[in-house]
Amino acid sequence: MTLMKEPDLGTPAQPGEATVTVEIDGMPITVPPNTSIMRAAAMTGIDIPKLCATDSLEAFGSCRLCLVEIDGRKGTPASCTTPVAEGMKVRTQTPRVEKLRQGVMELYISDHPLDCLTCSANGDCELQDMSGVVGLRQVRYGYEGENHLDLLTDSSNPYFDFEASKCIACSRCVRACSEVQGTFALTIEGRGFESKVSAGGVDFMSSECVSCGACVQACPTATLQEKSVVELGMPTRSVVTTCAYCGVGCSFKAELRGDELVRMVPYKGGDANEGHSCVKGRFAFGYATHPDRQMNPMIRESIEDEWQVVDWETAISYTARKLLEVQAKYGSGSIGGITSSRTTNEEVYVVQKMVRAAFGNNNVDTCARVCHSPTGYGLNQTFGTSAGTQDFKSVAKADVIVVIGANPTDGHPVFASRMKKRLREGAKLVVIDPRRIDLVRSPHVEAQYHLQLQPGTNVAIVNALAHVVVTEDLVAKDFVAERCEGYEEWAEFIARPENSPEATESITGVPAADLRAAARLYATGGNSAIYYGLGVTEHSQGSTMVMGMANLAMATGNIGRDGVGVNPLRGQNNVQGSCDMGSFPHELPGYRHVSDDAVRETFEAVWGRTILPEPGLRIPNMFDAAIDGSFRALFVQGEDIAQSDPNTKHVFAALESLDLLVVQDLFINETAKMAHVFLPGTSFLEKDGTFTNAERRINRVRPVMAPKTGKHEWEVACEIAQAMGYPMSYNHPREIMDEIAALTPTFAGVSFDRLDKLGSIQWPCNEKAPEGTPIMHVDAFVRGKGHFVPTTFVPTDERSTRKYPLILTTGRILSQYNVGAQTRRTANVAWHPEDLLEIHPHDAEVRGINDGDEVSLSSRVGETALRAVLSDRMPVGVVYTTFHHPVTGANVVTTENSDWATNCPEYKVTAVQVGLRTPVPPKQGAGFDQIPVTVLD
Ligand code: SF4
Ligand code: SF4
Ligand code: SF4
Ligand code: FES
Repeated sequence: MTLMKEPDLGTPAQPGEATVTVEIDGMPITVPPNTSIMRAAAMTGIDIPKLCATDSLEAFGSCRLCLVEIDGRKGTPASCTTPVAEGMKVRTQTPRVEKLRQGVMELYISDHPLDCLTCSANGDCELQDMSGVVGLRQVRYGYEGENHLDLLTDSSNPYFDFEASKCIACSRCVRACSEVQGTFALTIEGRGFESKVSAGGVDFMSSECVSCGACVQACPTATLQEKSVVELGMPTRSVVTTCAYCGVGCSFKAELRGDELVRMVPYKGGDANEGHSCVKGRFAFGYATHPDRQMNPMIRESIEDEWQVVDWETAISYTARKLLEVQAKYGSGSIGGITSSRTTNEEVYVVQKMVRAAFGNNNVDTCARVCHSPTGYGLNQTFGTSAGTQDFKSVAKADVIVVIGANPTDGHPVFASRMKKRLREGAKLVVIDPRRIDLVRSPHVEAQYHLQLQPGTNVAIVNALAHVVVTEDLVAKDFVAERCEGYEEWAEFIARPENSPEATESITGVPAADLRAAARLYATGGNSAIYYGLGVTEHSQGSTMVMGMANLAMATGNIGRDGVGVNPLRGQNNVQGSCDMGSFPHELPGYRHVSDDAVRETFEAVWGRTILPEPGLRIPNMFDAAIDGSFRALFVQGEDIAQSDPNTKHVFAALESLDLLVVQDLFINETAKMAHVFLPGTSFLEKDGTFTNAERRINRVRPVMAPKTGKHEWEVACEIAQAMGYPMSYNHPREIMDEIAALTPTFAGVSFDRLDKLGSIQWPCNEKAPEGTPIMHVDAFVRGKGHFVPTTFVPTDERSTRKYPLILTTGRILSQYNVGAQTRRTANVAWHPEDLLEIHPHDAEVRGINDGDEVSLSSRVGETALRAVLSDRMPVGVVYTTFHHPVTGANVVTTENSDWATNCPEYKVTAVQVGLRTPVPPKQGAGFDQIPVTVLD
């Protein structure tokens, strides 16, 4: 529940036009057919008492508190389960229903602890509220008989308690877990008086529960309650803001008591999440006040020196002076910056502006380089815009869902819940992934086809799917003829025998018959939608694969309406925004190339500086140039490149070569350990600005508290620029957004005022689309005609060899986030305290590895150690790990191979060997490369 109440109309909205007119307590109202009496009443402002109903769940009709009388009908039906009918006259307050309601409440209260005054939910309890609403004045039954008051509390979950003695068996939690979250962890066990909520017969922590909090949110009593509320007390104020973890971009009410954040409650009015959340956004915010957090600027001449704490003025002037010194000595292009996908659009914008206008070059890149840069390239080439085509809601209209190289239940959990709901309604699912992700089979969801391909063969698969579409005459000919170009050339290419499922089977490992069946389903199954993740982009042919998926969608006409599209599931909260804001070395905000004279002139007129027409350095080029000696100083905002970028040794060599490394972050991360200047960053709770999620939705990030460091990050970038001689200042981040809107056609209609009014806006937002654009390419593609691009499959250079016979692929787990800087500093470590290596039992057996053994993981570039877990989720020959813990440093082994078009690293394919570690412990302080291993060859 939440103290900051949003309207609860009792039952969900029904689709369709409002055509049924009823009268409730004399008030007429017209609503869509199948609307419940309870909802219709609430829409007229009449709240019927309720306990088991809430508008996020289907009506259940168990508590009998919402009884009403209907003229001409016998009895007292439950208003939550009774739909309206034309001409119906309903009375919600009659002596008869009032008496019945009091009787129901009396029974509830007679089996409920009467500790309201000291209960943690006092003031936030629907049972308490309803007692007052129904006018309960006495409870005739004592506590002598059988009751539930001695039931024990389950405190196993780190974030919430289950105080069973307070449960009224309304089943809202059970239904929230199944209907909203789709995990089905809870049931009501027993019947009648014996009915009780059960997490499958074990405690919450040992159950299937994924700690999304939906049950806590749904519970009308203090039974399921956040521990933070028990410890800190009921919050007293709330601020609506946006989650800073993944690209779903869930809206939350940050609820505070004074200045202390008590809990994050998912906001029903948030269009991305509509009141749902996952364990990270809901509970894992403690890192913002973790003792490791650095609040003061620090400088040092050499990384051998101790840090010196300084004030902001000193840190900024020191940084500016050093940057200018490097430029004076090595040239204007010897310095650069990396923006962060964790920061706001406004913060990203000022950093790229600082680089372009104050540094005087285009050496700015972003961490999107290492995740979704191929999305930008591929979708731009084919559709004309570097972003996904749909809003999240669109999945509710999909008939066939194809998930490629993504693991939504772990990586994008709230969207996964939407997707699973649609799958439970009957949509078909195709999963294309080397690993058997949870979606392949989970409660009430089963993929029709799991195409378990060999890592690195995506393009062969997408070509084979398209081959079936073209050669079996499944092409949407009218769509292609009217809306696309380049079809003939592409069709000739794709129909070649080498692209057939039979020819590619030996490369991909996917049976031709399965692939043909999946292709037919996609082409003929109704609305077909593709959702994809880093398993598509982080390959040497990442951009090719993105274009391959776009080709497939165009060939089948699955673009430009609800339920279809090509949709990247973006990793970080603002990875879309950081790309939109001109973080790439070749593009100004709005994806406009720096070589375009007219575009540059627009920016030059406002910025008052000349912008170079040549693209600057990408991150990998910066590293290479640092090692060569031509690139000498780097400003890194909010990215731990030493942990997240591939080939750690190479990254360290580059960072060690710099004369000046400036890191702005919350913590002394692996990169900051190599830095000369540390500038403390702000957490999302302190930020004021906007994030843009994976559906191009611009959400407001509102400050819940003042910056704990004393300065906003946008102010820091402005002050460095000023100290370098370039005047850059704003009074408020809204002015930065105004500048973005003035200079970026796709943002032309965006402002803080408009966002506050509309809640959120999906770009493009301009004169043509003043309220934004949920679905793109509706009547025409952004580039005019959709462009088919032939996508020749080129095998990666990274092959398994005698020395490195296994292929490593990597991914995320639900409870942890990227390099773990935040989630490792929360109670989420309870679920994932270390990275594990998943290895097929066959591969383990031939190496003498048992479940839980410590193993070495080595590639041609490095070696690390971690514990093995035997799993048949991967095919034989493929191993899998996460990269959340620096102690494992999974990127020690990933190589410098990268996407041909964008340099996005090929994280998903690394030839490795795995061996049982000898029992000799590493020397103290030993690096990963000194860990002794037994190499089996
Ligand atoms: S926290 Fe989420 S997954 Fe766990 S029981 Fe509650 S609703 Fe189900
Ligand atoms: S735990 Fe809460 S939501 Fe679940 S049945 Fe009990 S009172 Fe209802
Ligand atoms: S799904 Fe993503 S945005 Fe939503 S709460 Fe979880 S981490 Fe935050
Ligand atoms: S609210 Fe209608 S029966 Fe419980």
